[in-house]
Amino acid sequence: MILYPKFLILIIVSSLSTCKKDKCLEGGSHKNQPDPEPDFKECTLYTKSSCCSPDFTEELAHSPIIKVNTTYWDRCGTLSESCENYMKKIECFYQCSPHAARWSNPNYTAAIEFVPLCQNFCDDWYEACKDDSTCIHNWLIDWEYDEYGENHCKNRCFPYSQMYANGTDMCQNMWGNSFTVSDSSCRCLQMNEKDAVAVKYLQLDSSEESSSSSSSSSSEEQACQRKLRKMARRKEQEGVEIVE
Ligand SMILES: *[C@@H]1O[C@H](CO)[C@@H](O)[C@H](O)[C@H]1NC(C)=O
Ligand SMILES: *[C@@H]1O[C@H](CO)[C@@H](O)[C@H](O)[C@H]1NC(C)=O
Ligand SMILES: *[C@@H]1O[C@H](CO)[C@@H](O)[C@H](O)[C@H]1NC(C)=O
Repeated sequence: MILYPKFLILIIVSSLSTCKKDKCLEGGSHKNQPDPEPDFKECTLYTKSSCCSPDFTEELAHSPIIKVNTTYWDRCGTLSESCENYMKKIECFYQCSPHAARWSNPNYTAAIEFVPLCQNFCDDWYEACKDDSTCIHNWLIDWEYDEYGENHCKNRCFPYSQMYANGTDMCQNMWGNSFTVSDSSCRCLQMNEKDAVAVKYLQLDSSEESSSSSSSSSSEEQACQRKLRKMARRKEQEGVEIVE
């Protein structure tokens, strides 16, 4: 058979490239390698390939969420359900996404830096939290921790709408350098099924970083937009909406 060896090579090449793409951040409760988790209670976006365990998602499965591990979420009062949902999306991404490691911080590999978020995601997040309160500007450095690793406010509580000017300000400061708002409306993450498309084009982006001209990046952008429209049409035909 002549076909057989070629076929085998294809399989090997494609599985190699998946290995390279899907990886877990180091440290914390991250797994060594992502694997499927069909029984998640939360973070279901990552059931096909996940860096967190069902035990972790269990912590997010009851609303209102008072604390996750040793971090209290209610230091300025319980969060509204809409705001809590965005906190969960961020927590799920950091703990569970097999793509997060692409943006690992070179100085501190358990952390992420400059993950590109979509403008609309940040604006909706801000809208969802603007009447909730918070005592910190930066979750990574502004808390005071006690001997049990529990977080406390150093300052008074303010509404989000006073702590942050807008969605961009919030996304780019709330988690230090972890997130940035993208110029693109397609090659950016919004913590829903559209991320599967975005990640493909973001992958191409980084592997061609040195050689990419603005024209190749605009053709990437168009390809991404086409793929997203195709996905929306398919969902429409199937009669399902993309879960936000
Ligand atoms: C929970 O918090 C402790 C202390 O801060 C930390 O060492 C541990 O890794 C955390 N566990 C998870 C599952 O994040
Ligand atoms: C990493 O550490 C180096 C040396 O301390 C510093 O110059 C650089 O700005 C740091 N990079 C990041 C992303 O924090
Ligand atoms: C968001 O707030 C920042 C910081 O105050 C400001 O520079 C920026 O122009 C604002 N963006 C919009 C769209 O209002």
